[in-house]
This record gives sequence, structure tokens and C-alpha cells, in this order.
Amino acid sequence: MTRLSDTRGLPLTGLNATQIERYETLLIELYSYRPGVQARLEDLLQEAPGFVLGHVLRGYATMTDGLRSGLPEARRYLHQAQQLGGTATERERLHIRVLQAWVKGRDADRLMALEDILARWPLDLLAYRQLTGMLFWSGDKRRQLGAAMQALPHWQAAVPGHALVLGPLAFALEEDGHYGLAEGFARQALEHNSTDLWALHALAHVLEMQGRVREGDAAISAVASQLNDFNLFRGHLWWHLALFRLAQGRLEEVLDLLDREIFPAASLFYLDLQNAASLLARLEIQGVDVGERWVRVADAAEKTLGQHLVVFTGPHQVMALARTGRSQPLAQALQGFRDDALAGLEQAHTGSAVARAMALYYQGDYPSFLQDMRLLRYEAASLGASHAQQDLYFQLMVDAALRTGELALAKSLLKERLVKRFTEPSGWQRYADMAHLIEQTNDPQVLRGLLRSGLHL
Ligand SMILES: [Fe+2]
Repeated sequence: MTRLSDTRGLPLTGLNATQIERYETLLIELYSYRPGVQARLEDLLQEAPGFVLGHVLRGYATMTDGLRSGLPEARRYLHQAQQLGGTATERERLHIRVLQAWVKGRDADRLMALEDILARWPLDLLAYRQLTGMLFWSGDKRRQLGAAMQALPHWQAAVPGHALVLGPLAFALEEDGHYGLAEGFARQALEHNSTDLWALHALAHVLEMQGRVREGDAAISAVASQLNDFNLFRGHLWWHLALFRLAQGRLEEVLDLLDREIFPAASLFYLDLQNAASLLARLEIQGVDVGERWVRVADAAEKTLGQHLVVFTGPHQVMALARTGRSQPLAQALQGFRDDALAGLEQAHTGSAVARAMALYYQGDYPSFLQDMRLLRYEAASLGASHAQQDLYFQLMVDAALRTGELALAKSLLKERLVKRFTEPSGWQRYADMAHLIEQTNDPQVLRGLLRSGLHL
């Protein structure tokens, strides 16, 4: 069979030259977080039903929605790709294996297949973004950086799509604490495309971790008027902007962002639910009256009981259900997580334990919450997400310690929380200054304020 290749020299089964151009555009749009990509991919598949990788990509997209209800659809795309397996290249067959593993919940197989693709075809942009994206939810930050770095020698600046590897690289560097390098690569990607959302997101994380809240605010505000031209990932950028505003004490604006952009309605998208619950938690820790806003989040949590495949979402569901006193769905959610753990699903054991701890906090049993969460606080990182998202655990622990009058514990946790923020030699003095400040402070409200302020002095 004669096959044409993409602009990086990788053969594609089932597409003519014009269709390859359309696929290339789709791929760039996909990783630029543009809306409507799935519909355009469907159109392409209608015209080119033998496009093996297209069926796989539709399956990837369905799985990326993160809902169990999407599994039948993902299996259908997998089946269609498998039917074409005889015509596929070895690389395409590995992609089919990735999708198969994903649908079956076999993360190790999925990981190995993606690594196998990149080891032999390092310019496979789809595999690169899939692997680095998958590792975000694995909690293995060093492996994420390894994955992002290993293909770099092949990605010269002239390679088409080069800028789209810089965002994952910057983000992986940031999560491993290499803030200077991360900022450099993020800015390089943004010079190429000022609305490269993943690169902007990596930059936001650098600025968040270094407490550079005004710069972070400015970086996202600069593209705010364009953010709603992007797909649902935009909500997470709005969330980052809200964190920067929270750090500046602009609380009314945070509530406004929550209502207008972050969670205007009961979204079923897992990231929206995470963003809303963790922002409401942070606001309440600062003493803000958030009104009935938890109801919206609890509605979304209840509608998606047993549905979320991204395990990190579960504890956020539980927060909303417990906070609104919905005891029956809460019990159902917790039982579901225990069942997943008993069934041996990936991450489910830790997910279930963290979810139970969240329920204890929002039921007001702060001593039991502290007992459980203190033991879990490092293991909980295995549920993935960024340091900024995982900070929720420390926020709640410090708050619980202050509520129970355990001032020394609250201070200890606050200092421990600094470790991730000052990983570079240039940050050491700031760490020392902050640690000293924490030690000198005995007012619980001031200590709570340190959770909000992004740790800048
Ligand atoms: Fe983020």
C-alpha cells in the first residue's frame, strides 16, 4: 500500500495529500485547545473511513472527557481502528494498543506503548502530547519530565509543530522545580504563539509557585479577552487567574470569576469540578461567605457519581457533597471509590482514602481529617495533578490544625508547604525569610493569610 507522510515524515494510512493537510491542522488545533475539533475530525473520517489514526484520535478525545459514560463510544472507535489494523503501520498499531489499554484502564500498558512509539518515532507529536498529558495524572513528575525531554534532540526549531513540544517541556520542568528553565521554554512558546494555552499555563505555574502574583495576573489578563475562544480547558486558566486575584486579596473579583467563567453552571467536565471545589475551599478558608455556590458544584458531583475516570476528581466531588450535607449521594460516592479500590483499579486505593478524608473535613471532624490526611499527604500526590492543585491538601490541613488549636502543627505544615516553592538556590533566602515569619506569627488569621498570599513577602 502506498502511503503519504505527514510534515514530520511519518506515514499515515488512509489519507490523501489534502486530507493529510486537514489532519495536520486538526492536530495543531487540538493542542491549541480550539473548540470544534472533534466535529471536524468526524467530517474527515466520513470522507476517509480508512484513516486508522483518525479513529484512534477520536477514541483518545472521548477518553480525554474522563467519563465512564464515554467508554462505549471509545470502544466503538477502538473497534473501528482494530478493523483497519491489517492496513496499519507499526506505529499506528501501537496507537491502537494505547487506546485499547486506556479503554481497559491499564495505565502501565498505555504508558509502555506510548514510550515505544516515541522511542522509535520521536517526532510523533500526537504520542508526545498523549504521553506527557497522561503522566500529568500519574503523579510521577520526574517521569513526566523524562518523557518531555527524551524526544528533544529530534525536535529542531525547523520541525513543523516544534512550538507544541515546548509547553509540555516547560510544564514538566516547572513541576520538577526547575522554575528558571521552565519559564524560558514557556516564554519561547508564547513568543511563537501568545495564546499557546499549555505554555501560558506552564508560565502561570512558575509564577504561582514563586509567588509572583502580579506578573501571573498580568500574563493571563493579557489574553483574557480571547480565552473564551478556546475549549473547556480555558476554565483552568481562569482558575489560575482567580488564584492570583485571591493572593492579592481581590476577593469579590474571585467570586465574579467563579460565577462568570470558572463554574457558571453545573458542568460535568472533571476539570471544572476540580477548579470550582478547590477555589471555594480556598475562599472559605479565608473566611469568605460563598453563599450557595457549593450547591452548583454538588449538583455536578451528584450528576456524575461513579462517572469520573480521573481519580483526582473524586475527592472534589466528595467535598461538594459533604459540604452541602447530601448524605445519601455522599455515601454512594464513598462506597463507589471503595468498590473501585477493591476491584484493583489504578490509583483507586489512594483516591478512596483521600476522598474519605475530605468527607471528614466537610463533616466538621477536623481531628479525624488531620489524622488521615497527615498520613496521606505524600501518597496523595500519586493521584496526579499539579503542585498548585495538590496544595488543596495543605490548605485544608493548615485550616484544620488552626481550627483545632494545633498552632505548632499548622506552622509546621506551612513551612513544609514552602519546600515545593523554593527549589532553586535563588529561592533559599525567601524560604528562610518566610519560615522565620511563620515562626514569629501566632495569629491564626495571619497564618491563614499565608495560605492565600502566594507566599510573597
Ligand atoms: Fe494548572
